[in-house]
Amino acid sequence: MSQGKFYKKIVCIGAGYVGGPTMTVIANKCPDYKVTVVDISQPRIDAWNSDNLPIFEPGLKDRVERSRGKNLFFSTEVDKEIDEADIIFVSVNTPTKTFGEGAGKAADLQFVEKTARRIKEISRSNKIVIEKSTLPVRSAETLEKILHSGKNSVQFEILSNPEFMAEGTGINDMENPDRILIGSKDTPSGLAARDELVKIYAHWVPKEKVLTTNLWSSELSKLVSNAFLAQRISSINSISAVCEATEADVQEVAYSVGKDSRIGEKFLMAGVGFGGSCFRKDILNLVYLCEHYQLNEVAEFWKQVVTINDYQIERFVKRILRSMFNTLVGKKIAVFGFAFKPDTGDTRDTPAISICRRLLEEKAQLSITDPHALENAKKDLAGLAGVEFEPDPYKAVKGAHCIASLTAWKQFQKLDYQKIFDAMEKPAFIFDGRNHLDHQKLFDIGFNVYPVGKPALLHF
Ligand code: NAD
Ligand code: UGA
Repeated sequence: MSQGKFYKKIVCIGAGYVGGPTMTVIANKCPDYKVTVVDISQPRIDAWNSDNLPIFEPGLKDRVERSRGKNLFFSTEVDKEIDEADIIFVSVNTPTKTFGEGAGKAADLQFVEKTARRIKEISRSNKIVIEKSTLPVRSAETLEKILHSGKNSVQFEILSNPEFMAEGTGINDMENPDRILIGSKDTPSGLAARDELVKIYAHWVPKEKVLTTNLWSSELSKLVSNAFLAQRISSINSISAVCEATEADVQEVAYSVGKDSRIGEKFLMAGVGFGGSCFRKDILNLVYLCEHYQLNEVAEFWKQVVTINDYQIERFVKRILRSMFNTLVGKKIAVFGFAFKPDTGDTRDTPAISICRRLLEEKAQLSITDPHALENAKKDLAGLAGVEFEPDPYKAVKGAHCIASLTAWKQFQKLDYQKIFDAMEKPAFIFDGRNHLDHQKLFDIGFNVYPVGKPALLHF
């Protein structure tokens, strides 16, 4: 289909954490393509069209402003944009199912299926439909069945092109990816569609970084990548418990182990556990897949990654309780960080939610501070008594018995901890759930310091 001054027209369905940033980078890098991101949520689209973008991601605003109104558009006109598109990315949410069969494990595919039905209904010309969302293996088969059902002469070619960016570093991850993965059918039309997508990435990604596989390998590789990353975190977190029992230091262990080039240094930071919208969801999805194929031992193996993550969160809460003389009733705890990681306002499945709920069960009073996640935190803890949200960390610590550090924001590393110590009840405790603060300095000021997986530094 000719698109006037543009070579091709791309539409992305779903203007979330993935759809918005990925399409912005494609628009930046490919001025010869018209890129439109559509969503059913009017407020989300309004925000993408404003100065106040719906998500906080370093470098994103500048990239959006570079292309918006030129070859990058945000719209709620889903049907019109589908009709005009040559290439459709599907980037809708695929949360864990909360009801019926597979509840708590399987992916909830209702948004993907609705999108596929809409594409089928509206399309009057051939299209390439690309899975950008993370989907269960063999989803392309389901999409194909829906798209080619009934009496429609339109041809759809389905590709899998999972996204590997991480929040907080999303722009760099997309501009300089480790790899781009494209799964396609091994048919002439499948390979031609694949080549169209390769052409887009060729605008900025070196050829050797574009990997092409069959559809099922591509879909499975996305789940396995997240499972491997999360597995490393659970591995080191399990060792942090051993360190606390033996007075070994988990950072020294991680460093020594990671220096083996076969193991590598990344994703070995012990902490309060992984969060985010995807690790738990995608591992559970993998577990569900294994159970479906009656690979029960394999399912059990991957389930342990989630079990250790939950254990780590509970261990952190118990450590606070035990260290603070076995009662938190009426004690004020300043929570430093609520986002699931720094440089994002995203709080989906953040360990902070479970930790705060558990501390409230112990009848602590919480004052939560975070540079970008307080609005989401308010929603996550809505209706719970004993919690306040305070943008200023110096106010959050006033009269507090302890600080629970849950997100490694740089801003927290630069605070004046003498001033903070002076404002707190004594003895003052700090539990560094991300091992990112200067523990010796805090101890010298007078804090009792509890890192993760290291000996505590105590004044008594
Ligand atoms: P999100 O919830 O932020 O965004 C999804 C968007 O899709 C929402 O704005 C929603 O309104 C919209 N939507 C739902 N149904 C729609 C429909 N029928 N028509 C139009 N719009 C519709 O989700 P996200 O974080 O962007 O994740 C999207 C997918 O990408 C998921 O499968 C996720 O696993 C995967 N993924 C996410 C990340 C990440 O960092 N967040 C990274 C890699 C992959
Ligand atoms: C993760 C993957 O890194 C991306 O490749 C993937 O595309 C994405 O999931 C997805 O599919 O959604 P993300 O969740 O945004 O990205 O962020 P990560 O940097 O992976 O961090 C996830 C969690 O693990 C955070 O809570 C972080 O604090 C924690 N983490 C990370 C650790 O506890 N230790 C580490 O060493 C690394």
